[in-house]
Amino acid sequence: MTQIPETMFAVLQTGDGYSGQATGPAISDASDYLENGEIAVPTPGPGQVLIKLRVASVNPSDMHFIKGEYGQPRVKGHPAGFEGCGDVVATGKGAEGLAGQRVAFVAAGSGAWADYVVTQAQMCIPLRPDISDEDGAAQIVNPLTAMAMVDIAKSEGDAFVISAATSQLGKLMCMLGRDLGLKPIALVRRAEAIEPLKELGAAEVLVTSDPDMLKKFAKISAELKPRVFLDAVSNQQSEQIFAAMPNRARWVSYGKLDAELPSLSRMGQLVFMGKKIEGFWLTNWMMTTPPADQGRVVAEVQARFADGRWKTDVSAHLPLRDVVSGLADALKKTDGKVMITP
Ligand SMILES: NC(=O)c1ccc[n+]([C@@H]2O[C@H](COP(=O)([O-])OP(=O)(O)OC[C@H]3O[C@@H](n4cnc5c(N)ncnc54)[C@H](OP(=O)(O)O)[C@@H]3O)[C@@H](O)[C@H]2O)c1
Repeated sequence: MTQIPETMFAVLQTGDGYSGQATGPAISDASDYLENGEIAVPTPGPGQVLIKLRVASVNPSDMHFIKGEYGQPRVKGHPAGFEGCGDVVATGKGAEGLAGQRVAFVAAGSGAWADYVVTQAQMCIPLRPDISDEDGAAQIVNPLTAMAMVDIAKSEGDAFVISAATSQLGKLMCMLGRDLGLKPIALVRRAEAIEPLKELGAAEVLVTSDPDMLKKFAKISAELKPRVFLDAVSNQQSEQIFAAMPNRARWVSYGKLDAELPSLSRMGQLVFMGKKIEGFWLTNWMMTTPPADQGRVVAEVQARFADGRWKTDVSAHLPLRDVVSGLADALKKTDGKVMITP
């Protein structure tokens, strides 16, 4: 095993607990929420591993989290960052099987934006050699969510609606939908995304700023009868789209990219049309899906990245030591992931 230093560089949370706000993932300056620090390298406890970071990815959930708006509280002075890829350099009792392996991980002990990360062995996926470090760093959160949510869509018919379809997750779901013979209806903010998304598999692409968007959507909805709306934007326009969907439609909110809070205009549809509003969180999916089923999904995800059907679009590379000063600027390019390297 590699020599492990006593201390390490880490990007630390400056906030504690929840903020009580819901302002969305956008930031203007990461130093409002993060600071550089030199802290002790964590020690893996029973069932845990210590990982030397290769690459960490930046997801909207990281931004919600550092702002105190995510499903778990911040811990002041702990490293930020949820997802990445690296090498297991030490193991706690019961996790010896991962020793020396290159793994994709979700950080569940200390954050990913640090030279070393501690997490549970169950939150690690050993990576096939034909998966790149960058694909490995974005191998869990979005790909597993894409698989799980398209499964929900498939259970309700062949057409489904995806908002923020230019997101990494949106693109994965369009491609998966096409591969399964489904008809993804993609909603985007930028007109230049129409053709690329059609190439990826969207049956229809609508631009949310088009003044006729709702009229166009209503027509498509009447023809294709989408019964599931996989929504990462969750604003007033989302509510209007849901209102234009057919009976038994499910509005599945899984992200809050827009800070606008929707109000419900058609409560009667829940009563008389059997429509439902619900949420999806991968963490719950992982806690409730039997390990054998998760294993099959993980194998399918790796096969898709290995054979090139899926890839992670990268918009910027950011050295770990420049995260606090450079993250807000790096996030301005929205057509891919920011990748952090030690
Ligand atoms: N619930 C879960 O378990 C779960 C799991 C994974 C991901 N998610 C959520 O899934 C969503 C996508 O994640 P990702 O990692 O794929 O994102 P991403 O690749 O970082 O892309 C986010 C995209 O959203 C678009 N966007 C940003 N602000 C927007 C707004 N106000 N309105 C409409 N579109 C906006 C931007 O595209 P343009 O600039 O091209 O418009 C941007 O490219 C996020 O909300 C994330 O939190 C949830």
